[in-house]
Amino acid sequence: MLKKMETKVLMAYASTHGSTQEIAEIIAATLREHELSVDLQPARQVRTLEGYNAVVLGAPLYMFHLHKDARRFLSKHRKDLTGSLPFAIFAGGPFAKGDEEEWQEIHRQLDQELAKYPWLRPVAVEMVGGRFDPTKLRFPWNLIPALKQMPASDLRDWTAIRAWASSLAAQLPRPGRDGQPPLAMI
Ligand SMILES: Cc1cc2nc3c(=O)[nH]c(=O)nc-3n(C[C@H](O)[C@H](O)[C@H](O)COP(=O)(O)O)c2cc1C
Repeated sequence: MLKKMETKVLMAYASTHGSTQEIAEIIAATLREHELSVDLQPARQVRTLEGYNAVVLGAPLYMFHLHKDARRFLSKHRKDLTGSLPFAIFAGGPFAKGDEEEWQEIHRQLDQELAKYPWLRPVAVEMVGGRFDPTKLRFPWNLIPALKQMPASDLRDWTAIRAWASSLAAQLPRPGRDGQPPLAMI
C-alpha cells in the first residue's frame, strides 16, 4: 500500500495564563487546513524534535524576556534547531493598547531576546497581541498589587494570527514539492 508522505509540524507553546496556548491551537488548526500534520504540545513536555519537518514555537514575553519554558526549549533543542529544520516563532506580549512607539519597543524586546540565540535562523517571526486578566493572575504575579489594578484586555487579532499561520504554511517544506520523494512505501 502506498501512503502519501506528510510534512509533520511541531507546534510547541509556552503559556502561564492560557492565552498563548489558545493562539497555538488556532495556528495548529490553520496549518492543518493547509494539509500539514501538526502535533500541539506544551514546550516543556517536548522530549525530542525527531520526526518533525518543521517547528513552530509560541512564547509570551514576561518582564522583557521570553517565557522560561520557551528559553529552556531553545536551549534543550539547540542541536536540532541549529540544522536545516525550519523554525518559526511567534511571541505574545502587548496587552495595553499602546501607540506605535510602544509596539516598536516590544519588537525590540523580542529582537533582543532572539539575539541571545544567534544560532537560530527563524523562517518567520511574529509579534501578536496578548491577553491580560487581573482576576486570574497566577503565582507569583498575583502577589503584585499594581498588576491587580490594571484593566483586563485582549489584543489578540485572530484574523492576523490565521493569516500569519497561512503564510507560514506556504513556506514549509512539502515532500514531493521540495525534492523529496512524494510517496513512501509502508
Ligand atoms: C506579570 C506580567 C508581565 C508581562 N511582561 C510583559 C513584557 O515584558 N512584555 C510584553 O510585551 N508583554 C508582557 N506581558 C504580557 C503577556 O505577554 C501577555 O499577557 C500574554 O498574553 C500572556 O501569555 P499567557 O497567557 O500565555 O501566559 C506581561 C504579562 C504579565 C502578567
